[in-house]
Amino acid sequence: MSQSIESVLTEKRVFKPSREFSKQAKIKNFAEYKKLYDESIKNPEKFWGKQAAELLWNKKWTKVLDWKAPFAKWFVGGKLNVSENCLDRHLNGPRRNKAAIIWEGEPGEKRTLTYHQLHREVCIFANILKRNGVKKGDRVLIYLPHIPEAAIAMLACTRIGAIHTVVFGGFSAESIKDRLADSGATCVVTADGSYRRGQAVTLKQNVDRALEGNTAVKRVIVFRRANMDIHITEGRDVWWHREADYVTADCPPVPLDSEHPLFILYTSGSTGKPKGILHTTGGYLLGSLLTTKYVFDIREEDIYWCTADVGWITGHSYVVYGPLALGATSLMYEGAPNWPQSDRFWDIIARYGVNIFYTAPTAIRSFIKWGDEWPAKHDLSSLRLLGTVGEPINPEAWMWFYEKIGGGRCPISDTWWQTETGAHMITPIPGATPLKPGTATLPFFGIDAAIVDDNGKEVGPNEGGKLVIRKPWPSMLRTIYGDKARYKKQYWSEVKGCYFTGDGARRDKDGYFWIVGRIDDVLNVAGHRLGTAEVESALVAHEAVAEAAVVGRPDEIKGQGVVAFVTLKTGIKATEDLSEKLRKHVGAVIGPIAKPDEIRFAEALPKTRSGKIMRRLLKQIAAGNAVTGDTTTLEDFSVLAKLRASDE
Ligand code: WTA
Repeated sequence: MSQSIESVLTEKRVFKPSREFSKQAKIKNFAEYKKLYDESIKNPEKFWGKQAAELLWNKKWTKVLDWKAPFAKWFVGGKLNVSENCLDRHLNGPRRNKAAIIWEGEPGEKRTLTYHQLHREVCIFANILKRNGVKKGDRVLIYLPHIPEAAIAMLACTRIGAIHTVVFGGFSAESIKDRLADSGATCVVTADGSYRRGQAVTLKQNVDRALEGNTAVKRVIVFRRANMDIHITEGRDVWWHREADYVTADCPPVPLDSEHPLFILYTSGSTGKPKGILHTTGGYLLGSLLTTKYVFDIREEDIYWCTADVGWITGHSYVVYGPLALGATSLMYEGAPNWPQSDRFWDIIARYGVNIFYTAPTAIRSFIKWGDEWPAKHDLSSLRLLGTVGEPINPEAWMWFYEKIGGGRCPISDTWWQTETGAHMITPIPGATPLKPGTATLPFFGIDAAIVDDNGKEVGPNEGGKLVIRKPWPSMLRTIYGDKARYKKQYWSEVKGCYFTGDGARRDKDGYFWIVGRIDDVLNVAGHRLGTAEVESALVAHEAVAEAAVVGRPDEIKGQGVVAFVTLKTGIKATEDLSEKLRKHVGAVIGPIAKPDEIRFAEALPKTRSGKIMRRLLKQIAAGNAVTGDTTTLEDFSVLAKLRASDE
């Protein structure tokens, strides 16, 4: 970590957008950005009220913001429908037959859905939901591969006012179970299976396991993707394609209150189980639409590709809602970037003529490792703009992306945001913002970001502190589903009057934000959030484990790797075999991304006299560094000595 801080502190390179790029961009120079930004901060309600005209409203709102901190209502009294905004409004003009979604399956199948076709599929599926008893306000859990049906199912929910909760296809049965219980979902949409690196992956089987003992779920709708043999529970499970025979393609969108819940998406926090982040209709849609428009500077004829899975917020906002609300063409690819070989992404870019490419630093670090020869084999000249998200990008990875993929001509939008923020918060505006490798640069319009010390006072240039947002914004989370108290405590109690992001950062003399990373007990593994407490709970649930402490350590590809310090119950032997079993166990409980890279057995964990595990020490040990700093509160010094000895 300290090395990367030093390298960014000395970062001097600045890349201005080319004149050619700026000339055609929506925001053409820095002065234009600054003027609009200043106005948006001086009078946010006026700004957002004006921008809300970008959406199609069935009934105009009467008040832009009702703010009873920390609870916000945006566009009060307004009514609209998300699927109508993403589909119907594009049907009466030249976009009708434009590609809305271009999809490629991992085995190589190709599908294009025009706006007309996508609209039709969404109406059919909305009717299937209705036919199966789903009503406005009901929760629908979606557990699908990265296929167009994921977008279709999400949009169908929005069409009838059902609330979706998408669970990433890589998560386990246990994770689905938790999310079903917390959301109270009554319907599950899944597929028989999917493909990953040539292997068929079971999905329906995980749903079956998650549903053991569940009485709330009345229907499971199964899409046939992988021609797998699956178990059908009569009276509960139905096939998507069979249901389609019973419904029409006529399903008018239901006008919904601007604050009607749109979706719940679970994400890791610093304690316990993942929390359900609740987003609502009007504000979220406005945020995803505006950022897609300005940050990706999409033109009518562009092919835009965001590589995220719909199971994450990036897939929600930048595969589905933002691009479709804007009437853009969104490309979806189902599988792994190195299947059948390490140039799959570059092959896709060349074959479809992708213009805008949005991916994650962890993927970029893998590309670098795989070698320059893979992108070099392909014509990437269609690319005009690049983007990254998920974690701080190392300046060297930024340079590689800029040169080897962007050919030195494409600006990079390094976008900082979170599941909770719904949309980009700190990001370059590509035609306007001079770029420096490694920084997400400056706040988006209407976003009042600041770095403060422990007392909430703004710090000076290059001083580190907590990243906070000082004003509400339309696409902010409204609450943690079913837990207002936790919402208040988690986000609005750390720094008075501000939304606390959980990230540490500093601003340089130009006001650019350099994100250092999480300062709470959340890890960022390959751009995915993982709570140390979640992994610890999974470990302790294993019969052999007495106690566990999980920390991150720097990892060249994943950003952070997971190291678990584990003490065993009396009489149980620490073996290689057990270590492998525990890794598998965590994979089964949470999902493969949570598997510890290393399990270290210890006789005891270092604790303070009050019994708190001293993670700081464990982090240093996990990273292979000498233990420094204050250890005077350590309860038993011999513990530390033993942990270090086991290291040698
Ligand atoms: C980190 C993903 C630096 C950050 C959209 C944040 C980033 C967490 C960036 C949210 C970036 C995301 N630069 N750090 N451009 N983007 N992060 O909820 O720590 O999965 O708090 O949302 O990822 O992760 P989440």
